[in-house]
Amino acid sequence: MAEVTLDLRHHPKDRAYAQLHAHMINVMAGIDDDIAGMATMSALLHHAFGHLWTGFYRVVRPNLLRVGPYQGTVGCLEIEFGRGVCGSAAAEQRTIVVPDVERFPGHITCDPRSKSEIVSPVFDRSGALIAILDIDSTRRAAFDQQDADGLERILRWFAGEGRG
Ligand code: SME
Repeated sequence: MAEVTLDLRHHPKDRAYAQLHAHMINVMAGIDDDIAGMATMSALLHHAFGHLWTGFYRVVRPNLLRVGPYQGTVGCLEIEFGRGVCGSAAAEQRTIVVPDVERFPGHITCDPRSKSEIVSPVFDRSGALIAILDIDSTRRAAFDQQDADGLERILRWFAGEGRG
C-alpha cells in the first residue's frame, strides 16, 4: 500500500489532479468506507496543495451539514443548507468557486485568513447528496474550473468510481 503524501504545489493543476486521483485510488484500494475515504482525501488534498483548510461536511439531516473529517484549524460544527458557501453548494448540488470570500453574501468565516474557497457536492452510488468538500485558501482566486473538474473527478469515488 502506498500511503505516501504527495506535494504537488509546483505542478500544473491538470497534471497534479491526475496524479492525485491515481494515487488516491491506489491508497484506497480495498477500502469501502465513506469516512475512511473522507479522512484520506482530506489529508491527500491538504498536503498536496498546501491549503488552509480541507475537509468534508456530511449531510446528517435533511437540510443540515455537520463537520466531518478535515485537515486545518477548527471548522464550524454545523451549517444549514442555504447558508454560506457550503450550505449554498449543498442546496444547489453544484460546485461553487468563490474567488473572494468577502464578496460572497453570507460567507461563514471559520478562519479569518481564508480569502478564497471552493465547495463541491459529494454524491453516493444512488446519486444522493451525502456531503460537501470544502477547501479554503489564504490566497485570493486560488481556485478555478480546473480545480472544480479535478475535485469532482476525485469525489466520484463516493459514487463507486474506482472504488474497491
Ligand atoms: N466558509 C465556509 C464555512 C466552512 S469553513 O470555512 C471551514 C462557508 O461559507 O460555507
